[in-house]
Amino acid sequence: MPADLSPIDKAKFVAARRAVEFVQPGMKLGLGTGSTAAWMVRCLGERIREEGLKVVGVPTSTRTAELARQVGVPITSLDDAKWLDLTIDGADEFDPDLALIKGGGAALLQEKIVATASDRMIVIADAAKEVAALGGFPLPVEIIPFGWQTTKALIEELLVSMDVLNRDVTLRMNGDRPLVTDEANYIVDLHLQRIGNPRQLSLVLNQIPGVVENGLFIDICDIVVIGHADGRVTVRDINAGTESDDQVTFAPEDNIFANLD
Ligand code: A5P
Repeated sequence: MPADLSPIDKAKFVAARRAVEFVQPGMKLGLGTGSTAAWMVRCLGERIREEGLKVVGVPTSTRTAELARQVGVPITSLDDAKWLDLTIDGADEFDPDLALIKGGGAALLQEKIVATASDRMIVIADAAKEVAALGGFPLPVEIIPFGWQTTKALIEELLVSMDVLNRDVTLRMNGDRPLVTDEANYIVDLHLQRIGNPRQLSLVLNQIPGVVENGLFIDICDIVVIGHADGRVTVRDINAGTESDDQVTFAPEDNIFANLD
C-alpha cells in the first residue's frame, strides 16, 4: 500500500479488497457510490484484468458508471439485469442490526433500488461508520423539486412526533443552487443526532407525497466489512450471526493506485 494513502483511505481500501473476494464468476453486481465504493470498483477492475473474471455491474450513479468504464468493469442497466446476485456499497453509518444511513453522496435512490433488487448486500466501511444508534450523520431524504418547501415543512411537522434528539432540516446545496440528484430531485438533510426508531421514521417519511425515498436502509444489508488502517478487516454477517477478522495483504505495485485520469 503506498505510504501516501491516508489512514482512512487505507481502511476503505482494505474493506473494499476483502469485499470483492465475495464476487464469483458470472455474478450480476450492484456497484455502490462514494469514496469507499470507488475503491471496490477499482479492486473489481483489478480482478477482471488479472483473473479474467467475468461479471457485469449495475452502477448506482453516473459517477460510478464513469469509474467502472475507466477501470474496465462491464456495466449494464438494472432493467437489463433485472435481479442481482450481490451489491457492494459504502454507508454513512451502520448500527448493530446493520441498519444504515446512506445518501451522503446524494445517490441514495438508485442505491436503495439496486440493493433491494439484490440477493445480498455487503456494506464496506471504515470503523468510524459504526454507531450504537443511527442519526449522528444527517439523514438524507430525496424530494421532488415541485413544492419542495411544502415538503420540507411537512417533514419538519412530522419530526415533532418522532423519537429524535434534534429536528433541523436543511436543503442540500451545490454552490448557490440546490443540489440536483441523478434522478433530477433535491435532497434535504435531517439533522436528528439520534434516531430512536429508524423503522418507524423510514415508513412515515415515505408517506409524505413529495418524498421520493429516504436514506434509511433497514433489513437490506446482510454483511458489513469493516476496514482498519493497519490492514485488518472485520467481516460481520448479520444472518449467520458470525464475525471474523482477516488481514488484507497488498503490494505497493498494485496498479489500482495508478492515476486514472
Ligand atoms: C452515496 O450516496 C452514499 O450512500 C455513500 O455510499 C455513503 O455516503 C458513503 O460514502 P463514503 O464511502 O464516501 O464515505
